[in-house]
Amino acid sequence: MKKVLTYGTFDLFHYGHLRILQRARALGDYLIVAVSTDEFNEIKGKKCTYPYAHRAQIVEAIKYVDKVIPEHNWRQKARDIRENEVDILVMGNDWQGKFDDLNELCQVVYLPRTEDISTTEVKHHVKNERSIAIKKSA
Ligand code: CTP
Repeated sequence: MKKVLTYGTFDLFHYGHLRILQRARALGDYLIVAVSTDEFNEIKGKKCTYPYAHRAQIVEAIKYVDKVIPEHNWRQKARDIRENEVDILVMGNDWQGKFDDLNELCQVVYLPRTEDISTTEVKHHVKNERSIAIKKSA
């Protein structure tokens, strides 16, 4: 069984989140998602709308996801890979090259982000009462 692991905050779950989970799962047979805790988001300077418990439950309910674990800090990736016997680490290509050292432990794959959507953008659209445009490629 090929195990895939990915990381993220997943606040205000949106289409870009869904697509990375779908593509990550398609690389293997079992997808583990490490969701950033509220404490870790504070360290990262990220302000979340939903608390960890809600974000984790939403991600866990996605059909491509087999298991959710908490992401407490930047340093836990190697331990997560070993403990969960992970074959592939998936990161968005905004992190391109940043985790190449983990290739010693498993394959590291950077997937392109879905264009024109992010939690930050969703917040902006809600604030301005605008809807997200659907792209032809979507
Ligand atoms: N992601 C993606 N495409 C997007 C947005 C996010 O593929 N348009 C991926 C990220 O690369 C990451 C995961 O989804 O692997 C979780 O990203 P996260 O940082 O939680 O979401 P963002 O929408 O990028 O949040 P923010 O605007 O707060 O940075």
